[in-house]
Amino acid sequence: MKKFNQFFPLLFLVMFILAACQSVAQAPAAEPSVESAGESEAVDSPTEMAPPADEAPSVEAEVIKVGAAHALSGPIALYGEPISQGIQLAVAQMNAQNYLGEGKQIEVVYEDTAGDKEQAISVFEKLINQDGVVAILGPTLSNSAFAADPIAQEAGVPVIGSSNTASGITEMGDFVFRTSLPESAVIPNTLQVVADARGMQDVAVMYGNDDQFTQSGYEVFASSLENLGTNVVTTETFAKGDADFNAQLTKIKSLAPQAIIASALAEEAANIMSQARQQGIEAYFIGGNGFNSPKLAEIAGDAAEGAISGAAWFIGNPTPENQTFVEAYRAEFGTDPDQFAAQAYTAAWVLGEAIKSANSTDPAAIRDALTAIQNLPTPLGEFSFDANRDPLHTPVVLIVKDGQFALFEE
Ligand code: ALA
Repeated sequence: MKKFNQFFPLLFLVMFILAACQSVAQAPAAEPSVESAGESEAVDSPTEMAPPADEAPSVEAEVIKVGAAHALSGPIALYGEPISQGIQLAVAQMNAQNYLGEGKQIEVVYEDTAGDKEQAISVFEKLINQDGVVAILGPTLSNSAFAADPIAQEAGVPVIGSSNTASGITEMGDFVFRTSLPESAVIPNTLQVVADARGMQDVAVMYGNDDQFTQSGYEVFASSLENLGTNVVTTETFAKGDADFNAQLTKIKSLAPQAIIASALAEEAANIMSQARQQGIEAYFIGGNGFNSPKLAEIAGDAAEGAISGAAWFIGNPTPENQTFVEAYRAEFGTDPDQFAAQAYTAAWVLGEAIKSANSTDPAAIRDALTAIQNLPTPLGEFSFDANRDPLHTPVVLIVKDGQFALFEE
């Protein structure tokens, strides 16, 4: 199996030459708009870089259609945008070096789930039945995955989530994979590390009770807190889209916990933090994957300072694969990647590697090749799936410092 570290020098050379010729058909250096990836069209690069049709040995051999089903509009687009950019970068790189063979190009069909499970179902049906994709990358939310992944499973089309972190995702079937560490692989470590550093006597817990990711995260937090012997002073709930958390926070303030644990998506988490600080609550925050977006600190500003979260990736990880990814992403989009971009980039490369090693566009053969991926060097580390098609690697603990994620080292 060809490894990332073997092809990165070549990749750099190719990218450099293409950039120098100003003929890079990848996304523009300025941030590509989400809309450009959300109009059910392939990104520009594969189409422009494909050889003329009359040179094509066969349609199947030349164009390999992959679906990308992510939230490109609405509040969940704060995850869906970097995810789409991660996919776009990986596919542009693979196509630029003819990774799947001379003249073979991956064409990504981007569809917008809007973070809505009914829309995710429609999108999966379209990608499978109309576009004939060989695999699907997505969807963004676990809530959508529980609704839509069974459609891919039923059709025998592999689906790779890169941001689904609820328990039970890959249990939906043997065509369901993910490159995102589940909450159960991250949260126990987060709480143990923080408890070791700070002690953890009394905490309040808040969670969204109408979303399968926030509920699942809550369950993992609750059992981990029990294992640690931490006293939970109160457990408060909210619903997706809520904007006023003052009632819950007033109660929490009266109980004076040391920390507030929030199993929440980023927008709700940011509002909770802002309102807590407005109420004069000084407790620090701990969260799961919902906190892993830089948008948390962008929305909450100073109120996000000190927020702690478990994560699957850290931008400062010095491995060559990570630093090369970070530089390429910055060059392409003019901004730092986040964990969602890194996991999506990895998912797209993992899929490309599986298609290459299967040497086939047959979804069942690609599924089998995915299960055989072993120690592929990626920005997340040496990547392998476990027997349940979940990723196998070590989580980190991050803290927001001066508006940026830093490693938690106390
Ligand atoms: N980690 C979040 C989810 O699984 C985005 O829904």
